[in-house]
Amino acid sequence: MHNDIERILKTETEIQDKIKQLGEQISKDYEGKNPVMICILKGGIVFLSDLARNISTHVQLDFMSLSSYGDSTKSSGVVKIKKDIDADISDRDVIIVEDIVDSGLTLKYLNEYFKQHNSSSIKICTLLDKPNAHKIDLKIDYVGFEVGNEFVVGYGLDYAQKYRNLPYIGILKKEIYS
Ligand code: IMP
Ligand code: MG
Repeated sequence: MHNDIERILKTETEIQDKIKQLGEQISKDYEGKNPVMICILKGGIVFLSDLARNISTHVQLDFMSLSSYGDSTKSSGVVKIKKDIDADISDRDVIIVEDIVDSGLTLKYLNEYFKQHNSSSIKICTLLDKPNAHKIDLKIDYVGFEVGNEFVVGYGLDYAQKYRNLPYIGILKKEIYS
């Protein structure tokens, strides 16, 4: 698997250091509260798992699965709920935990969806952001790293359902796509 990687963008240490900082910030912002952290499967699972353990306030964990990318590297723009959350989020603080924001279409959809469920607040936390790829105006509250428009894998992010278990974030060799 490691042989398929052309270049490492963020090392394991860089990622863990960043998650410590994000965890401290979220712990401060939600002190005395009990937000529902909603992980967007499957990409967000590795990030959520490390992030939650760096937060010192109570948090509730929940999961949502959406269809977006299929096995290709292009956004379909179509968002469909495959698994909904279990928690009742009315009057609750919600933190959406994403692996990466690309076009922003997924988050636009989720923002509206959670608003309809009368959550008291919604914040977005993403490990990676591709600011140059946004197709809509989007406020992201917590960002780990900004990256360019290249396709990245690892630390939860996949190509054709592979590479999610890489402990770092990298770029695949060209020949892997063909
Ligand atoms: P958006 O709706 O275009 O913002 O799509 C976001 C989703 O697309 C992410 O949650 C990922 O699942 C997927 N995605 C976007 N860029 C990448 C990438 O570079 N590598 C792997 N998955 C990606
Ligand atoms: Mg995703």
